[in-house]
Amino acid sequence: MSIILGIESSCDETAAAVCINGSIVSNVIATQAIHQQYGGVVPELASRAHMQQIMPVVVKALQEAGVGKNDLSAVAFTQSPGLIGALLVGTCFAKSLALSLNIPLIAVHHMQAHVLANLIERPNLAFPFLCLTVSGGHTQIVLAHSATKMELLGETFDDAAGEAFDKTAKILGLPYPGGPLIDQYAQQGQPLIAVAEPQVDGLNFSFSGLKTSVLYHVQKMQREQPDYITENLPNLCASIQARIVGILLKKLERAVELTGISRVCLAGGVSANSGLRHGFMQLAKLRGWDAHIPSFTYCTDNAAMIALTGWHKLQAGELASLSISPEARAAW
Ligand code: KG4
Ligand code: ZN
Repeated sequence: MSIILGIESSCDETAAAVCINGSIVSNVIATQAIHQQYGGVVPELASRAHMQQIMPVVVKALQEAGVGKNDLSAVAFTQSPGLIGALLVGTCFAKSLALSLNIPLIAVHHMQAHVLANLIERPNLAFPFLCLTVSGGHTQIVLAHSATKMELLGETFDDAAGEAFDKTAKILGLPYPGGPLIDQYAQQGQPLIAVAEPQVDGLNFSFSGLKTSVLYHVQKMQREQPDYITENLPNLCASIQARIVGILLKKLERAVELTGISRVCLAGGVSANSGLRHGFMQLAKLRGWDAHIPSFTYCTDNAAMIALTGWHKLQAGELASLSISPEARAAW
């Protein structure tokens, strides 16, 4: 029997989870509300909050799993990418625990874990599959050859999809994070307003031109109509959402064409977007894809995906040395 403790601290969620023989038995998250008042994640505050929360979160995850620390087979933690100070807290905690218990340490790449989150509720999902990972920090199309071998087919050159939602929301005067609010208002509006579609070759993305086009449009309209945003909020949100979702799905469709792989998944916080979920499932039906979207809990940052990735890496013998350091950015 192998019992893995997973620890996630790459951004503003302190999380711990336990995986027993490939099944998640506990999944605890402490979200840091402090960043809301600043309109974005403040790295220093994130690190401090991780230090306060990591112990109670780990204790709760072990309790909920009904295991003690001496039952653990290995400790897995997010080693990269992320905010360096935030990653340091999880890394130090995981290293100390592994050292004191004399058990293996497993370093997990956060983006690989997002992809493998699809296996939490669908453990028999066959490889290879494609995954569109869309979060506040990343936009990637990944080809998963196996649990431990992944290939990056495309990524964003500038803003991530979640950033595109949050930054356009900010232009509309909505609080951070604006993505879920754009989703809400979009449901009452129509995509009648032109939003730029940046042109990028291959399977890569760009969203910064989209944001600028919304800014210029709003500024121009407000000169004649000062209440333009409030009077047109649902249509503005519907137009922004339709454009972002359209760009994402167009590239995903292209990835399926290029690879011939029609098993397709979503990952990351933006997969909570109702327009993306709906558009993705409709496209899957139309094209005959085998499609899967994880539950919301496993789309956003969580430690269940870290614990499960740790379990796969343990099977593959991919262990880390106790001298390992976290990295803000790292290739797969
Ligand atoms: O994966 P995640 O929880 O954190 C990381 O960035 O790693 O993703 C957060 C992002 C934020 O940009 C947030 O605005 C976006 O996901 N998001 C949404 C929705 N829910 C979360 N964007 C659009 N529509 C939503 N319903
Ligand atoms: Zn993430």
